[in-house]
Amino acid sequence: MEYRHLGRSGLMVSEISYGNWITHGSQVEEDAAVECVRAALDEGITTFDTADVYAGTRAEEVLGRALKGVRRESLEIFTKVYWPTGEGKNDRGLSRKHITESINGSLRRLQTDYVDLYQAHRYDVETPLEETLRAFDDLVRQGKVLYVGVSEWTADQIARALKIADEMGFDRLVSNQPQYSMLWRVIESEVVPLCEKEGLGQIVWSPIAQGVLTGKYLPGQPPPAGSRATDSTGSGFINRLMRDDVLRRVQDLKPIAADLGLSMAQLAVAWVLQNPNVSSAIVGATKPEQVRDNVKAAGVKLDAEVLKKIDDVLEPVVERDPAKTVSPSSRP
Ligand SMILES: NC(=O)c1ccc[n+]([C@@H]2O[C@H](COP(=O)([O-])OP(=O)(O)OC[C@H]3O[C@@H](n4cnc5c(N)ncnc54)[C@H](OP(=O)(O)O)[C@@H]3O)[C@@H](O)[C@H]2O)c1
Repeated sequence: MEYRHLGRSGLMVSEISYGNWITHGSQVEEDAAVECVRAALDEGITTFDTADVYAGTRAEEVLGRALKGVRRESLEIFTKVYWPTGEGKNDRGLSRKHITESINGSLRRLQTDYVDLYQAHRYDVETPLEETLRAFDDLVRQGKVLYVGVSEWTADQIARALKIADEMGFDRLVSNQPQYSMLWRVIESEVVPLCEKEGLGQIVWSPIAQGVLTGKYLPGQPPPAGSRATDSTGSGFINRLMRDDVLRRVQDLKPIAADLGLSMAQLAVAWVLQNPNVSSAIVGATKPEQVRDNVKAAGVKLDAEVLKKIDDVLEPVVERDPAKTVSPSSRP
Protein backbone atom coordinates (compact mmCIF):
# COMPACT_ATOMS: atom_id res chain seq x y z
CA MET A 1 0.00 0.00 0.00
CA GLU A 2 1.05 3.59 -0.57
CA TYR A 3 -0.13 6.54 1.51
CA ARG A 4 -0.95 10.16 0.62
CA HIS A 5 -1.81 13.32 2.51
CA LEU A 6 -5.50 14.14 2.65
CA GLY A 7 -5.39 17.35 0.64
CA ARG A 8 -3.01 19.82 2.25
CA SER A 9 -3.80 18.51 5.75
CA GLY A 10 -1.33 16.63 7.93
CA LEU A 11 -3.51 13.49 7.85
CA MET A 12 -2.14 10.52 5.91
CA VAL A 13 -4.61 8.13 4.27
CA SER A 14 -4.13 4.91 2.34
CA GLU A 15 -4.23 5.46 -1.44
CA ILE A 16 -6.96 2.86 -1.49
CA SER A 17 -9.70 3.05 1.13
CA TYR A 18 -12.39 0.53 1.92
CA GLY A 19 -16.05 1.65 1.86
CA ASN A 20 -19.15 -0.25 2.96
CA TRP A 21 -22.06 1.30 1.00
CA ILE A 22 -24.57 -1.31 -0.31
CA THR A 23 -22.53 -4.15 1.22
CA HIS A 24 -22.38 -4.07 5.05
CA GLY A 25 -25.73 -4.58 6.75
CA SER A 26 -27.38 -5.17 3.38
CA GLN A 27 -25.98 -7.10 0.37
CA VAL A 28 -23.46 -9.22 2.30
CA GLU A 29 -23.73 -11.24 5.51
CA GLU A 30 -21.74 -10.06 8.49
CA ASP A 31 -19.08 -12.79 8.27
CA ALA A 32 -18.27 -11.79 4.66
CA ALA A 33 -18.17 -8.14 5.72
CA VAL A 34 -15.71 -8.94 8.50
CA GLU A 35 -13.55 -11.02 6.13
CA CYS A 36 -13.39 -8.10 3.68
CA VAL A 37 -12.33 -5.70 6.46
CA ARG A 38 -9.68 -8.20 7.62
CA ALA A 39 -8.38 -8.50 4.05
CA ALA A 40 -8.27 -4.71 3.77
CA LEU A 41 -6.25 -4.41 6.99
CA ASP A 42 -3.91 -7.23 5.92
CA GLU A 43 -3.26 -5.39 2.63
CA GLY A 44 -2.33 -2.14 4.39
CA ILE A 45 -5.62 -0.27 4.01
CA THR A 46 -5.95 2.06 6.99
CA THR A 47 -8.77 4.31 5.75
CA PHE A 48 -12.40 3.20 6.10
CA ASP A 49 -15.40 5.12 4.78
CA THR A 50 -19.02 4.76 5.82
CA ALA A 51 -22.10 6.96 6.43
CA ASP A 52 -24.89 7.23 8.97
CA VAL A 53 -27.45 6.47 6.23
CA TYR A 54 -25.88 3.28 4.82
CA ALA A 55 -28.18 0.28 5.32
CA GLY A 56 -30.37 2.41 7.58
CA THR A 57 -27.46 2.96 10.04
CA ARG A 58 -26.55 -0.77 10.18
CA ALA A 59 -23.41 -0.33 8.03
CA GLU A 60 -21.74 1.76 10.74
CA GLU A 61 -22.58 -0.91 13.31
CA VAL A 62 -21.05 -3.68 11.17
CA LEU A 63 -17.89 -1.63 10.54
CA GLY A 64 -17.63 -0.83 14.26
CA ARG A 65 -17.76 -4.53 15.11
CA ALA A 66 -15.38 -5.49 12.30
CA LEU A 67 -12.74 -2.98 13.47
CA LYS A 68 -13.12 -3.81 17.17
CA GLY A 69 -9.78 -4.57 18.76
CA VAL A 70 -7.75 -2.85 16.03
CA ARG A 71 -5.46 -0.14 17.41
CA ARG A 72 -7.50 3.05 16.93
CA GLU A 73 -4.43 5.16 16.13
CA SER A 74 -3.66 2.89 13.15
CA LEU A 75 -7.01 3.68 11.47
CA GLU A 76 -8.64 6.64 9.72
CA ILE A 77 -12.40 6.31 10.09
CA PHE A 78 -14.60 8.52 7.91
CA THR A 79 -18.35 8.96 8.11
CA LYS A 80 -21.00 11.37 6.82
CA VAL A 81 -24.19 13.22 7.63
CA TYR A 82 -27.10 14.61 5.53
CA TRP A 83 -29.36 11.84 4.19
CA PRO A 84 -32.31 10.78 6.41
CA THR A 85 -31.56 8.50 9.36
CA GLY A 86 -35.11 8.48 10.70
CA GLU A 87 -38.68 9.56 10.03
CA GLY A 88 -38.49 12.89 11.86
CA LYS A 89 -38.28 16.23 10.08
CA ASN A 90 -34.98 16.90 11.85
CA ASP A 91 -33.47 13.46 11.15
CA ARG A 92 -31.83 14.79 7.97
CA GLY A 93 -29.91 17.68 6.49
CA LEU A 94 -27.09 19.78 7.88
CA SER A 95 -28.81 21.72 10.66
CA ARG A 96 -26.93 22.20 13.92
CA LYS A 97 -29.51 19.91 15.57
CA HIS A 98 -29.13 17.00 13.16
CA ILE A 99 -25.33 17.26 12.93
CA THR A 100 -25.04 17.28 16.74
CA GLU A 101 -27.36 14.28 17.09
CA SER A 102 -26.09 12.30 14.13
CA ILE A 103 -22.43 12.37 15.15
CA ASN A 104 -23.36 10.93 18.54
CA GLY A 105 -25.21 8.05 16.83
CA SER A 106 -22.28 7.44 14.48
CA LEU A 107 -19.73 7.36 17.31
CA ARG A 108 -21.89 4.94 19.28
CA ARG A 109 -22.36 2.60 16.30
CA LEU A 110 -18.69 2.79 15.27
CA GLN A 111 -17.63 2.20 18.89
CA THR A 112 -15.14 5.05 18.84
CA ASP A 113 -14.69 8.39 20.62
CA TYR A 114 -13.95 10.33 17.43
CA VAL A 115 -14.02 10.07 13.65
CA ASP A 116 -11.03 11.22 11.65
CA LEU A 117 -13.12 12.87 8.94
CA TYR A 118 -16.74 14.02 9.10
CA GLN A 119 -18.29 14.77 5.72
CA ALA A 120 -21.39 16.68 4.64
CA HIS A 121 -22.84 13.98 2.37
CA ARG A 122 -24.56 16.59 0.14
CA TYR A 123 -25.19 20.36 0.19
CA ASP A 124 -28.27 21.29 2.26
CA VAL A 125 -30.16 24.14 0.59
CA GLU A 126 -32.37 24.50 3.66
CA THR A 127 -29.62 25.34 6.18
CA PRO A 128 -27.45 28.47 6.16
CA LEU A 129 -23.88 27.47 5.40
CA GLU A 130 -22.66 29.37 8.50
CA GLU A 131 -24.85 27.16 10.72
CA THR A 132 -23.41 23.95 9.25
CA LEU A 133 -19.81 25.13 9.35
CA ARG A 134 -20.08 26.38 12.93
CA ALA A 135 -21.65 23.08 14.01
CA PHE A 136 -18.80 21.19 12.29
CA ASP A 137 -16.25 23.47 13.92
CA ASP A 138 -17.83 22.84 17.34
CA LEU A 139 -17.46 19.08 16.81
CA VAL A 140 -13.77 19.61 16.09
CA ARG A 141 -13.40 21.67 19.31
CA GLN A 142 -15.24 18.89 21.21
CA GLY A 143 -12.79 16.31 19.84
CA LYS A 144 -15.55 14.22 18.24
CA VAL A 145 -14.25 14.97 14.75
CA LEU A 146 -10.66 15.64 13.68
CA TYR A 147 -11.17 16.97 10.14
CA VAL A 148 -14.17 18.13 8.12
CA GLY A 149 -15.02 17.63 4.47
CA VAL A 150 -17.89 17.47 2.00
CA SER A 151 -19.22 15.12 -0.63
CA GLU A 152 -20.55 15.95 -4.09
CA TRP A 153 -20.41 19.71 -3.53
CA THR A 154 -19.93 21.99 -6.52
CA ALA A 155 -16.87 24.22 -6.89
CA ASP A 156 -19.03 27.24 -6.05
CA GLN A 157 -20.40 25.63 -2.86
CA ILE A 158 -16.90 24.67 -1.73
CA ALA A 159 -15.56 28.17 -2.48
CA ARG A 160 -18.35 29.79 -0.44
CA ALA A 161 -17.69 27.46 2.50
CA LEU A 162 -13.96 28.27 2.45
CA LYS A 163 -14.67 32.01 2.40
CA ILE A 164 -16.96 31.73 5.45
CA ALA A 165 -14.49 29.51 7.29
CA ASP A 166 -11.70 32.01 6.66
CA GLU A 167 -13.83 34.98 7.75
CA MET A 168 -15.15 33.26 10.87
CA GLY A 169 -11.96 31.39 11.82
CA PHE A 170 -13.66 27.99 11.46
CA ASP A 171 -11.78 24.82 10.59
CA ARG A 172 -11.34 24.64 6.80
CA LEU A 173 -12.67 21.79 4.70
CA VAL A 174 -9.85 19.40 3.84
CA SER A 175 -11.61 17.13 1.36
CA ASN A 176 -14.40 16.47 -1.09
CA GLN A 177 -15.85 13.04 -1.84
CA PRO A 178 -17.07 12.91 -5.43
CA GLN A 179 -17.90 10.11 -7.83
CA TYR A 180 -14.88 9.70 -10.13
CA SER A 181 -13.91 7.01 -12.59
CA MET A 182 -12.77 6.57 -16.18
CA LEU A 183 -16.47 6.86 -17.09
CA TRP A 184 -17.46 9.73 -14.76
CA ARG A 185 -15.10 12.71 -14.94
CA VAL A 186 -17.41 15.58 -14.01
CA ILE A 187 -15.06 16.98 -11.31
CA GLU A 188 -12.17 17.59 -13.67
CA SER A 189 -13.12 20.99 -15.09
CA GLU A 190 -14.22 22.95 -12.00
CA VAL A 191 -14.01 21.04 -8.70
CA VAL A 192 -10.45 19.74 -9.08
CA PRO A 193 -8.86 23.09 -10.11
CA LEU A 194 -10.49 24.86 -7.16
CA CYS A 195 -9.51 22.10 -4.73
CA GLU A 196 -5.91 22.06 -5.99
CA LYS A 197 -5.68 25.79 -5.39
CA GLU A 198 -7.34 25.62 -1.95
CA GLY A 199 -5.67 22.45 -0.68
CA LEU A 200 -8.62 20.02 -0.59
CA GLY A 201 -8.04 16.40 -1.61
CA GLN A 202 -10.55 14.20 -3.43
CA ILE A 203 -11.56 10.91 -1.82
CA VAL A 204 -13.25 9.38 -4.81
CA TRP A 205 -16.15 6.94 -4.80
CA SER A 206 -17.09 4.17 -7.22
CA PRO A 207 -13.68 4.15 -8.96
CA ILE A 208 -14.64 0.80 -10.54
CA ALA A 209 -18.06 2.23 -11.51
CA GLN A 210 -19.69 -0.14 -9.00
CA GLY A 211 -18.14 -3.16 -10.72
CA VAL A 212 -18.90 -2.14 -14.33
CA LEU A 213 -15.22 -1.39 -15.06
CA THR A 214 -14.23 -4.96 -14.12
CA GLY A 215 -15.75 -5.98 -17.45
CA LYS A 216 -17.83 -8.70 -15.77
CA TYR A 217 -21.10 -7.29 -17.12
CA LEU A 218 -21.45 -8.32 -20.77
CA PRO A 219 -23.57 -6.35 -23.23
CA GLY A 220 -26.89 -8.02 -24.01
CA GLN A 221 -26.47 -10.65 -21.29
CA PRO A 222 -27.96 -11.03 -17.82
CA PRO A 223 -25.64 -9.90 -14.98
CA PRO A 224 -23.67 -12.60 -13.14
CA ALA A 225 -25.42 -14.06 -10.10
CA GLY A 226 -24.53 -12.41 -6.79
CA SER A 227 -23.25 -9.21 -8.41
CA ARG A 228 -24.47 -5.73 -7.45
CA ALA A 229 -26.67 -5.60 -10.53
CA THR A 230 -28.69 -8.52 -9.12
CA ASP A 231 -28.98 -7.05 -5.61
CA SER A 232 -32.35 -5.50 -4.76
CA THR A 233 -30.80 -2.26 -3.45
CA GLY A 234 -27.62 -2.18 -5.53
CA SER A 235 -29.35 -2.67 -8.88
CA GLY A 236 -31.18 0.64 -8.44
CA PHE A 237 -27.82 2.44 -8.36
CA ILE A 238 -25.77 0.49 -10.90
CA ASN A 239 -28.49 0.32 -13.55
CA ARG A 240 -27.79 3.74 -15.00
CA LEU A 241 -24.29 2.52 -15.94
CA MET A 242 -25.52 -0.76 -17.43
CA ARG A 243 -26.06 0.53 -20.98
CA ASP A 244 -24.93 -1.71 -23.80
CA ASP A 245 -22.85 1.07 -25.41
CA VAL A 246 -20.95 1.50 -22.11
CA LEU A 247 -20.54 -2.24 -21.53
CA ARG A 248 -19.27 -2.79 -25.09
CA ARG A 249 -16.59 -0.13 -24.75
CA VAL A 250 -15.54 -1.45 -21.35
CA GLN A 251 -14.89 -4.84 -23.00
CA ASP A 252 -12.50 -3.01 -25.36
CA LEU A 253 -10.35 -2.02 -22.36
CA LYS A 254 -9.45 -5.66 -21.70
CA PRO A 255 -6.41 -5.79 -24.05
CA ILE A 256 -5.06 -2.57 -22.50
CA ALA A 257 -5.25 -4.06 -18.99
CA ALA A 258 -3.79 -7.38 -20.21
CA ASP A 259 -0.81 -5.65 -21.88
CA LEU A 260 0.01 -3.99 -18.57
CA GLY A 261 -0.44 -7.22 -16.60
CA LEU A 262 -3.25 -5.61 -14.61
CA SER A 263 -6.75 -6.85 -13.87
CA MET A 264 -9.53 -4.60 -15.12
CA ALA A 265 -10.35 -3.54 -11.54
CA GLN A 266 -6.69 -2.63 -10.96
CA LEU A 267 -6.62 -0.57 -14.17
CA ALA A 268 -9.76 1.32 -13.06
CA VAL A 269 -8.41 2.09 -9.59
CA ALA A 270 -4.95 2.97 -10.91
CA TRP A 271 -6.57 5.38 -13.40
CA VAL A 272 -8.18 7.57 -10.71
CA LEU A 273 -4.96 7.55 -8.68
CA GLN A 274 -3.06 9.16 -11.60
CA ASN A 275 -4.85 12.40 -10.74
CA PRO A 276 -2.60 14.09 -8.13
CA ASN A 277 -5.60 15.81 -6.51
CA VAL A 278 -6.99 12.37 -5.59
CA SER A 279 -5.94 11.50 -2.05
CA SER A 280 -7.63 8.12 -1.98
CA ALA A 281 -9.85 5.84 -4.06
CA ILE A 282 -12.61 4.17 -2.01
CA VAL A 283 -13.31 0.67 -3.23
CA GLY A 284 -16.20 -1.53 -2.23
CA ALA A 285 -16.11 -5.32 -2.10
CA THR A 286 -18.39 -8.26 -1.46
CA LYS A 287 -15.55 -10.78 -1.21
CA PRO A 288 -12.03 -10.60 0.29
CA GLU A 289 -10.53 -11.68 -3.09
CA GLN A 290 -11.88 -8.44 -4.59
CA VAL A 291 -10.08 -6.39 -1.93
CA ARG A 292 -6.84 -8.29 -2.61
CA ASP A 293 -7.26 -7.70 -6.36
CA ASN A 294 -8.05 -3.99 -6.07
CA VAL A 295 -5.24 -3.03 -3.68
CA LYS A 296 -2.60 -4.01 -6.24
CA ALA A 297 -3.48 -0.77 -8.04
CA ALA A 298 -1.59 1.19 -5.35
CA GLY A 299 1.58 2.72 -6.73
CA VAL A 300 0.87 1.73 -10.37
CA LYS A 301 1.95 4.39 -12.90
CA LEU A 302 0.09 4.66 -16.20
CA ASP A 303 1.98 6.48 -18.92
CA ALA A 304 0.52 9.06 -21.32
CA GLU A 305 0.24 6.54 -24.14
CA VAL A 306 -1.90 4.20 -22.01
CA LEU A 307 -4.11 7.07 -20.85
CA LYS A 308 -4.61 8.09 -24.48
CA LYS A 309 -5.57 4.53 -25.46
CA ILE A 310 -8.16 4.46 -22.65
CA ASP A 311 -9.58 7.81 -23.80
CA ASP A 312 -9.78 6.62 -27.39
CA VAL A 313 -11.83 3.58 -26.32
CA LEU A 314 -14.16 5.33 -23.87
CA GLU A 315 -14.54 8.89 -25.19
CA PRO A 316 -18.13 8.58 -26.54
CA VAL A 317 -19.43 7.27 -23.20
CA VAL A 318 -17.44 9.46 -20.80
CA GLU A 319 -19.51 11.94 -18.74
CA ARG A 320 -17.73 15.28 -18.22
CA ASP A 321 -20.52 17.80 -17.59
CA PRO A 322 -19.78 19.69 -14.31
CA ALA A 323 -23.52 20.37 -13.97
CA LYS A 324 -23.90 16.66 -13.07
CA THR A 325 -22.59 17.47 -9.57
CA VAL A 326 -25.91 18.09 -7.86
CA SER A 327 -27.45 17.98 -4.42
CA PRO A 328 -31.22 17.63 -3.89
CA SER A 329 -33.17 20.86 -4.51
CA SER A 330 -34.92 20.36 -1.17
CA ARG A 331 -34.12 18.15 1.80
CA PRO A 332 -34.88 14.48 1.08
N1 LIG B 1 -20.26 10.09 -1.00
C1 LIG B 1 -21.16 9.44 -1.69
O1 LIG B 1 -22.21 9.96 -2.06
C2 LIG B 1 -20.89 8.01 -2.03
C3 LIG B 1 -21.71 7.32 -2.94
C4 LIG B 1 -21.38 5.99 -3.23
C5 LIG B 1 -20.29 5.38 -2.64
N2 LIG B 1 -19.53 6.08 -1.73
C6 LIG B 1 -18.37 5.47 -1.06
O2 LIG B 1 -17.53 4.82 -1.99
C7 LIG B 1 -17.39 3.45 -1.65
C8 LIG B 1 -17.16 2.63 -2.86
O3 LIG B 1 -18.29 2.70 -3.74
P1 LIG B 1 -18.63 1.47 -4.64
O4 LIG B 1 -18.84 0.28 -3.76
O5 LIG B 1 -19.68 1.83 -5.60
O6 LIG B 1 -17.20 1.30 -5.38
P2 LIG B 1 -16.62 0.37 -6.51
O7 LIG B 1 -15.31 -0.07 -5.96
O8 LIG B 1 -16.65 1.10 -7.80
O9 LIG B 1 -17.61 -0.88 -6.64
C9 LIG B 1 -17.58 -1.88 -5.67
C10 LIG B 1 -18.31 -3.12 -6.13
O10 LIG B 1 -17.80 -3.60 -7.37
C11 LIG B 1 -17.63 -5.02 -7.33
N3 LIG B 1 -16.18 -5.28 -7.34
C12 LIG B 1 -15.21 -4.58 -6.66
N4 LIG B 1 -14.00 -5.09 -6.92
C13 LIG B 1 -14.18 -6.13 -7.77
C14 LIG B 1 -13.30 -7.02 -8.38
N5 LIG B 1 -11.99 -6.96 -8.15
N6 LIG B 1 -13.80 -7.98 -9.22
C15 LIG B 1 -15.14 -8.04 -9.44
N7 LIG B 1 -16.04 -7.20 -8.88
C16 LIG B 1 -15.57 -6.24 -8.05
C17 LIG B 1 -18.28 -5.48 -6.01
O11 LIG B 1 -19.67 -5.69 -6.20
P3 LIG B 1 -20.33 -7.13 -6.58
O12 LIG B 1 -19.42 -8.21 -6.08
O13 LIG B 1 -21.64 -7.09 -5.87
O14 LIG B 1 -20.49 -7.10 -8.05
C18 LIG B 1 -18.12 -4.24 -5.13
O15 LIG B 1 -19.01 -4.19 -4.05
C19 LIG B 1 -18.66 3.16 -0.85
O16 LIG B 1 -18.56 2.01 -0.03
C20 LIG B 1 -18.79 4.41 -0.04
O17 LIG B 1 -17.88 4.39 1.04
C21 LIG B 1 -19.81 7.37 -1.45
